[in-house]
Parts: sequence; C-alpha cells; structure tokens
Amino acid sequence: MRITVDQIKQMKKSGEKIAMLTAYDYPTAKLADAAGVQMILVGDSLGMVVLGYESTLPVTMDEMLHHVKAVVRGSSKAMVVGDMPFMSYQASLSEAMHNAGRFLKEANCQAVKLEGGERTAETIRHIVQAGIPVVGHIGLTPQSVNQLSGYKLQGKTPKAAVQLIKDAHALEEAGAFAIVLESIPAPLAKVITERIGIPTIGIGAGVECDGQVQVFHDIMGLYPDLSPKHAKRYASLAGVMQSAIAAYVDEVKRGTFPTAKESYGLDNTAVRELTEIAAR
Ligand code: KIV
Repeated sequence: MRITVDQIKQMKKSGEKIAMLTAYDYPTAKLADAAGVQMILVGDSLGMVVLGYESTLPVTMDEMLHHVKAVVRGSSKAMVVGDMPFMSYQASLSEAMHNAGRFLKEANCQAVKLEGGERTAETIRHIVQAGIPVVGHIGLTPQSVNQLSGYKLQGKTPKAAVQLIKDAHALEEAGAFAIVLESIPAPLAKVITERIGIPTIGIGAGVECDGQVQVFHDIMGLYPDLSPKHAKRYASLAGVMQSAIAAYVDEVKRGTFPTAKESYGLDNTAVRELTEIAAR
C-alpha cells in the first residue's frame, strides 16, 4: 500500500518530517522506495538532469508520462507525484484538467505538482475537485525563469515575502495537500510553515519546513561541476562511475575482459562436434 494524502498531512500534525526525492526511472525509483522516501517527485527537472535541456521549459507531457510510468513501476510504497510541465496547465482550464488527468489515468501516479501561487489557485481548485491530489510549488518556480531573470532566491523584500505568504494561503484554500517552497529565506519558510495547515516541503528553504525535497543527481554528486547551495552531496557517484567505465574500456582494449568467468562454455562432446564443424 502506498503512502496516502492523509498520511502525508498527518505527518505535519505529528511533527514527523517528510522526505521527498526526485527520481526519473525504474532503478532510482526502486532505490528511493527501498530507502524509505515517503514521496517520489518525478520533477520536470528531468529536462535538465536527464535529458540535457538548458531549462525545464522544453519538457513535454509525453516525456513526463514516459518517466512517471517507469517510476511507478519501480516503487510500491512511496507516493509518486508527477510534475506538470510548462504550458500543460497555463493556457486553459480544460487543458490543465485533461493533462492532470493523464498523469493519474495513463501513468498511474498518485498526485500532480503545479507551479505558482495565487495565479494558479483557481486551476488547482478545479483539479482537486476532479479528485486529483495536488502539490503546490512557490518561491523560485523554474518554469518562470525568464520572468524571474534567473534562478534566484525569492521573497527577499517585505513585499515579496507578504506575497508568498498570500500564495501559500491561496494554495491551501484551493485544496493543495502540500506545498513545495523553493529557494526562499529560511525565516520566511518558517513563518509560512507555521501559518498554514498543510505540509511545506522545502528545497533551499531551511530546516523548519515540514519536509525536504532534493534532486537525485544533486545528492548523488552526478554533476560535480554543479553544486547548488541548497544541495548536500551524500555521495560522489560521478567519479566512481567514470572510473568503473574507464576500467571496463581498458580491459576490453587489453583483452582481459571477458575471462572464463564471464563466458559460456560447452561440454566436451559439444566442443568435439564444434571442432569438426569448424574443420569442414
Ligand atoms: O522539478 C523538480 O525537480 C522540482 C523540485 C526541485 C521541487 O520541482
């Protein structure tokens, strides 16, 4: 049985922290699930960390669904949240409803995530009314990177902070069951967390949030040249993986791989028969 919306909401009440991690494929979903992650986010960060796009903007519905399906297949306990990509919910309410529905109907995940506060609240209200659980996302919303003039800390001025508090209330009132707070000052995240009744899940928003979310590739050190301030590297896998590949290449070149251990033999009779065939 997967973790439910009620259980996630209950975690805020009981003070148990929520661990959310992104995953984009079957093997990483299996690892995250086995390690006890409560929520797996198939983020549209897929575009940047897996597909090599410069931003999340080019990510399509079909790309998202393809990866959400793999993550659902790879997990059995965590709640899987599908991230609605840029322009899948902004143009019209009916498109938003249709696309949100595709995540549950075709990819079989349990919830969707949309970026935006007050401006997205009405859309979220309709999606929730259709029976689709929604996670909101405010602060640094990467789909608005052009409008925000880059990936910058948000909510620094009193006016911006007040707007983010209003955004959080609007999302709760619209029926979102949790809100991602991305790149906002920790004291502001604390105020929002105290003021709303649904869990906040921070990334670059300090320790007072009800939970945390991180990007798989950041915590695994798969991009050693990129280290966002909010990301902690729990492993340095890029070096480990590259060394392993280099060792493989080296052994292939030198003819030391495969050995008898990695090869399939034949019994003596079959070897004799094969030798006769080869001699013809
Ligand atoms: O796309 C993503 O991975 C996200 C998280 C950073 C919250 O939205």
